[in-house]
Amino acid sequence: MTRVFSGVKPTGHLTLGNYLGAMRRWAEVDQHQADALFCVVDLHALTVDHDPARVRRLSRQAATLLLAAGLDPELCTVFVQSHVDEHARLSYLLECVASDGEMRRMIQYKEKAPREQARGGSVRLSLLTYPVLMAADILAYGTHEVPVGDDQTQHVELARDLAVRFNHRYGHTFVVPKATPPKVAARVMNLQDPTAKMGKSDDSGPGIVYLLDEPDVVRKKVMRAVTDSGREVVYDREGRPGVANLLEILAACQGGNPEALSGAYDSYGALKKDTAEAVVEVLRPVQERHRELCADPAYVERVLRRGAEKAREMARPMVDAAYRAIGLLPA
Ligand code: TYM
Repeated sequence: MTRVFSGVKPTGHLTLGNYLGAMRRWAEVDQHQADALFCVVDLHALTVDHDPARVRRLSRQAATLLLAAGLDPELCTVFVQSHVDEHARLSYLLECVASDGEMRRMIQYKEKAPREQARGGSVRLSLLTYPVLMAADILAYGTHEVPVGDDQTQHVELARDLAVRFNHRYGHTFVVPKATPPKVAARVMNLQDPTAKMGKSDDSGPGIVYLLDEPDVVRKKVMRAVTDSGREVVYDREGRPGVANLLEILAACQGGNPEALSGAYDSYGALKKDTAEAVVEVLRPVQERHRELCADPAYVERVLRRGAEKAREMARPMVDAAYRAIGLLPA
C-alpha cells in the first residue's frame, strides 16, 4: 500500500491555504487510499525566534485542527514530531549526506534568513538544516507520496536527492518519495498581496483567512481582497493575480475550475460575495468539530500518544537500518 506522510508546522494559526492546499485532501483522499501519517512538526517551529509557551499552544491547536479537518485516527496516524526520536536521529545521518551549498540554495532559506537578520536576531543553524530534518520526517517512514502545497516541492526534491545519494553510497535503504501537489489551490495567495503566498507566519492579518476566523471576519477579509485594475472577471494568474486567486479559492471550495467559473461573473463584487460564502461554508464543519474537540482535550492527547507509539514502531526499523548501513556499530 502507498505510504503517505505530510505535516504542518506550528508557527502560527493555520490558514485557508493550509486547508485547501493540504489538510482537506489528507482527510478526503489520502487517509482513505493510503497508509498515511500526519504530523505536527514542532521541532521545525524552533528554527526561528520562538516563544516556548506559544509553540506548545499552537502544537496542541494544530493537532486538534487536523482532527477537526476530518483526519480519523482509526484510518491514519496523527502525531507530534518531537514525540518520536527517530526524526532527530535520522536527521543527523542525513546531514552527513547533504552539503552546505545545497542547503544555502533552498528558496525558503534564502527568503527567511534575511528576515530573521532584519528582526535583529541571528539566523539559527537549524533554519539552514531545516530541509534535512524534513527529509528525515519523510524518509524515516519509507514514504512514497508527500501531499503538500507548491511551496514545499523543493524540499521534497531534496528529500529525493538525499534518498538517492544515501542508497547509492551505502546500499539501498530508503524509498525515493515524490511530492503530490493538489490540482487546484496548490498556492493560495495573500488576499492583500496576491503575489505572495498566504502564509501563517506572516504579519499581514487582513490578507490571511485563518481556519478559526469567525464567518463575519472571513466575509470582511474576502470582500476587502485586493483586486486588479480592470473590470472583467477573467482568469489570468500573471496579469490579474488578485482575481485569479479569488477564482481559485472559489473553485477549490465549491468545485469546478477557475477558468470556467470566471465566465459566470460580470463584477468583482459578485465574485467576492460568492467566494466569501463558499469559504464560510467550507470552514463551518471544521470549526464546529474543533469546538467539540476543545471540550475533550483528553481525547486529543490520547490520539497523539497512540499516534506516536505507532509512528515510532514504523520509523525505528528504517532508522536502525540506516545507522547500520552508514557504518555505525550496532548497540
Ligand atoms: P506548512 O506548515 O507551512 O504548511 C502545511 C501544508 O500547507 C501547505 N500550504 C499551502 N498550500 C497552498 N497554499 C498556501 N498558501 C499554503 N500554505 C501552506 C504547505 O505546502 C504544506 O503542505 N515544511 C513544511 C512542514 C513539514 C513537512 C514535513 C511537510 C515538515 N516536515 C514532511 C511534508 C513532509 C511546512 O512548513 O509546512
